[in-house]
Amino acid sequence: MLGNFSYHNPTKLYFGDDSLQYLNEELPKYGTTVQLIYGGGSIKKIGLYDEIVAILKANGKTIVEDAGVMPNPTVDKLNEGVRLARENHVDLLLAVGGGSCCDYAKAVSVSVHCNDDPWEKYYIRFEEPDCEIVPVGCVLTMTGTGSEMNGGSVITNHAQKLKIGHVFGDEVMPKFSILNPKYTMSLPKRQMVAGIYDIFNHICEQYFSGEDDNTSDYIAEALMKSVVHSSLIAVENPDDYEARSNIMWTATWALNTLISRGKSTDWMVHMIGQSVGAYTDATHGMTLSAVSLPYYRTIMPYGLKKFKRFATEVWDICSDGKTDEEVANEGLAAMEGWMKKLGLAMNISELGATEDMLEGIAEGTFILDGGYKVLTKEEIIEILKQSM
Ligand code: NZQ
Ligand code: ZN
Repeated sequence: MLGNFSYHNPTKLYFGDDSLQYLNEELPKYGTTVQLIYGGGSIKKIGLYDEIVAILKANGKTIVEDAGVMPNPTVDKLNEGVRLARENHVDLLLAVGGGSCCDYAKAVSVSVHCNDDPWEKYYIRFEEPDCEIVPVGCVLTMTGTGSEMNGGSVITNHAQKLKIGHVFGDEVMPKFSILNPKYTMSLPKRQMVAGIYDIFNHICEQYFSGEDDNTSDYIAEALMKSVVHSSLIAVENPDDYEARSNIMWTATWALNTLISRGKSTDWMVHMIGQSVGAYTDATHGMTLSAVSLPYYRTIMPYGLKKFKRFATEVWDICSDGKTDEEVANEGLAAMEGWMKKLGLAMNISELGATEDMLEGIAEGTFILDGGYKVLTKEEIIEILKQSM
């Protein structure tokens, strides 16, 4: 049975190969000073930086450059961004890039007018903002995280070896996001497939929990089938606009607060993956792919009915004459085959994890209780060992 819920998503989306022009409609809604947030330079290579600067200037905006947001943005970078925003009395934070830029922009947005230490307040104590929030807009160039239409913001603290996400409420979510699938075509294959697996796993995290018959699970299955289908086209032909646009749209719906409504969720692959990330700084999607199969094979007996459904509905496994366990295992094997075809990381050693890190990674893993099995620390260590 679906639980009770409210649903509201305030982010306005502009989707398509002409979507950048709508920045002209959004900019007049905000004051004069825009903090232009981007990463290591990919937006300059594809000419997007020049286009956006031209639009900002045409709209009479003063630009505060905030470059160098790294994948897995750090608390040090956050503090630098907050200083810039304060010194320049910024009116809008415009993130141009992937999930890292969008997440970082949200972290800055709740920290500019905050009197407390943002890391301690939002990421250690998980408090909600009680200050003015600077609005955020996004122009997305990498798909996967869903950050363009959610309140998630993940920050890494290397000194404390912690990577933590805070899911903020409506008031922190981007006011608008511009999604042009063409921007994603310059992604290196490794980043593209990492993003694709991130999408798939976001859906799994919300699917592998509960055993009720509910609409959310049917939507999840459709989204999984779409991303598997389009991913196989995109790895062969990265310039296929139809596949890239389907992947981009699926990424948004996979984590824009819709499919989790009314049901419990798991999120343990992300908890383990994030802790692997804190130790290795590896690409987010790869940390997930590397731990997923050992995790799902561990919890499968506790959610057998759903794993069987996953096999038949997502992977078209025929169940005739087979036990539920056989069907469920065949589903996971099909998923493994797909992951290998994409070229995903299948173990954490290749991401730089070593035996001596496993205890600390397990220690840094938040144990959540929404899935089929509440893990013990020993079980997490065992999953990590199997992921080596
Ligand atoms: O920095 P630049 O030069 O832009 O290069 C980036 C970066 O190196 C590159 N890139 C992006 N667009 C490109 C491009 N290269 C060529 N052409 C383009 N069009 O890709 C690299 C990775 O970018 P990044 O933004 O780090 O990737 P992603 O979108 O996967 O974001 C990862 C971050 O989001 C967090 C992750 O933990 C990680 O910190 N997440 C956020 C979530 C949320 N907000 O809800 C949920 C996710 O589960 C995730 O945890
Ligand atoms: Zn993710």
